[in-house]
Amino acid sequence: MKGTVLLIICSGLTWGVPGKPLFPDQEKDPSFWNKWAQSTLKNALQLQKLNQNTAKNLILFLGDGMGIPTVTAARILKGQLSGKSGEETQLEMDKFPFVALSKTYNTNAQVADSAGTATAYLCGVKANEGTVGVNAAATRSQCNTTQGNEVTSILRWAKEAGKSVGIVTTTRVNHATPSAAYAHCVDRDWYSDGEMPAEAIQAGCKDIARQLFENIPNIDVIMGGGRKYMFPKNQSDVEYPGDKKHFGTRKDGRNLVAEWTNRMKNKQAFYVWNRKELMSLNPNNVDYILGLFEPGDLLYNLERNPDTDPSLTEMVEVAIKILRKNPNGFYLLVEGGRIDHGHHEGKAKQALHEAVEMDRAIGLAGLLTNIHDTMTVVTADHSHVFSFGGYTSRGNTIFGLAPMFSDVDQKPFTAILYGNGPGFKVVDGLRENVSTIDYQENNYQAQAAVPLSMETHGGEDVAIFSKGPMAHLLHGVHEQNYIPHVMAYAACIGQNRDHCMSSNGASGLGPALASLTALLTLNHLFC
Ligand SMILES: *[C@@H]1O[C@H](CO)[C@@H](O)[C@H](O)[C@H]1NC(C)=O
Ligand SMILES: *[C@@H]1O[C@H](CO)[C@@H](O)[C@H](O)[C@H]1NC(C)=O
Ligand SMILES: *[C@@H]1O[C@H](CO)[C@@H](O)[C@H](O)[C@H]1NC(C)=O
Ligand SMILES: [Zn+2]
Repeated sequence: MKGTVLLIICSGLTWGVPGKPLFPDQEKDPSFWNKWAQSTLKNALQLQKLNQNTAKNLILFLGDGMGIPTVTAARILKGQLSGKSGEETQLEMDKFPFVALSKTYNTNAQVADSAGTATAYLCGVKANEGTVGVNAAATRSQCNTTQGNEVTSILRWAKEAGKSVGIVTTTRVNHATPSAAYAHCVDRDWYSDGEMPAEAIQAGCKDIARQLFENIPNIDVIMGGGRKYMFPKNQSDVEYPGDKKHFGTRKDGRNLVAEWTNRMKNKQAFYVWNRKELMSLNPNNVDYILGLFEPGDLLYNLERNPDTDPSLTEMVEVAIKILRKNPNGFYLLVEGGRIDHGHHEGKAKQALHEAVEMDRAIGLAGLLTNIHDTMTVVTADHSHVFSFGGYTSRGNTIFGLAPMFSDVDQKPFTAILYGNGPGFKVVDGLRENVSTIDYQENNYQAQAAVPLSMETHGGEDVAIFSKGPMAHLLHGVHEQNYIPHVMAYAACIGQNRDHCMSSNGASGLGPALASLTALLTLNHLFC
């Protein structure tokens, strides 16, 4: 089989630009590769000195649906956007010294959803799909299984330890990923009471938007979309007045934004709903921010209006500048939430641009913080049935064609394909000839093997990249719910803190405690 393919490639099918070499000349010289590898080795040897400080700050970047094929393709895209061939480019997350694998299954699902997984990497326990902030004894959509099954998140543990806490997402702030940080809900779709069945409301279950403001007193930074879930039903949206589909959804008639503004009126607290308001704030004068930039999810970064909507990177910048003022440090959850949506729609270009934007935010967060006191983890909740292949040549545009034709239907195919999804397309009973269409446009839906209106998640492990204090504890193949245990351990928050009290210098508290112990010892000697 391989022989046949090689034969095809070697038998004169052309790729790349004729006359232009496929790769730089220097790569023909072994010393190029040897030098590069040797300098990587030198860096790796530095890692023998483990960073065992206590993490003052914790940042989790969650690429929703950012499986490993997505990471690789986003890397190539990032390189190609800056005029390189792409494969050799380093993403910001690629620069993290430690990488592990995360097993993403939910308690009741081999292929996970974003709610059960969020409960795992935020609350530290695996849970059923569709549920947030409740353990696996809770059943999806059954209100009466909530009580007694609530589990708390690392965001809460951090708040209780005196840290500032924040949530930044490109989805609704009450979407599955962020909601597990503050809500306990048996149904991820209960965005507001307008989406809840009457029985669940009668039985005392609370919608997720409401829990955002009621469960954890004063989350310091909340930024993303989801405005409509905060306003009374039929209330027009500030940005799209008169557009019914963006009207408020709350049946209880509450205005959660007004309630928040009112409750915070004696604090340095600001509600903003567009980029201009956000960028005009001086973070030094802001202690609390509620930024709701769209009625639902934010727009894809490729479609964002840069005058009215902030980018993920801009939101992260403001968030960190507000949060880092707390001398006790902070916990920040950042979600690149629409990588997942791009894939579900079969729109690989949207998904990959979302991933590149999250990577940009990771780079900026690195500049605003310090690896000596900040642990940063980048991971995904689950993968997708997204793939790219087809023996493409070096530097082939990531949205381009494989350099061959199918030996079955004689038609070309794109390197990016989906296992299932809306891109399945048959023309006159046969697979579409992609050469007759523009497969590089933003909303092109790559071909899928099985027709499905929404492409599905994938079941394989996802990567965990980590840097900063205790990052080396993310080092192998782990269950996804291990992640917040490590982060809490690194920051000396939550339950597992015995090591923080030891005076052997195993933590950043170590030096302070060691001198305290020395003083006490002296005291003991002299008195
Ligand atoms: C919980 O509610 C479901 C309906 O959602 C019902 O079938 C079940 O009997 C209830 N269980 C208890 C213990 O009340
Ligand atoms: C919203 O508007 C619809 C139709 O205009 C009306 O039937 C309904 O009673 C209104 N709901 C509220 C809560 O005002
Ligand atoms: C596919 O479309 C291209 C461009 O129109 C055409 O040249 C080619 O012959 C087509 N291939 C097949 C197998 O129909
Ligand atoms: Zn999804």
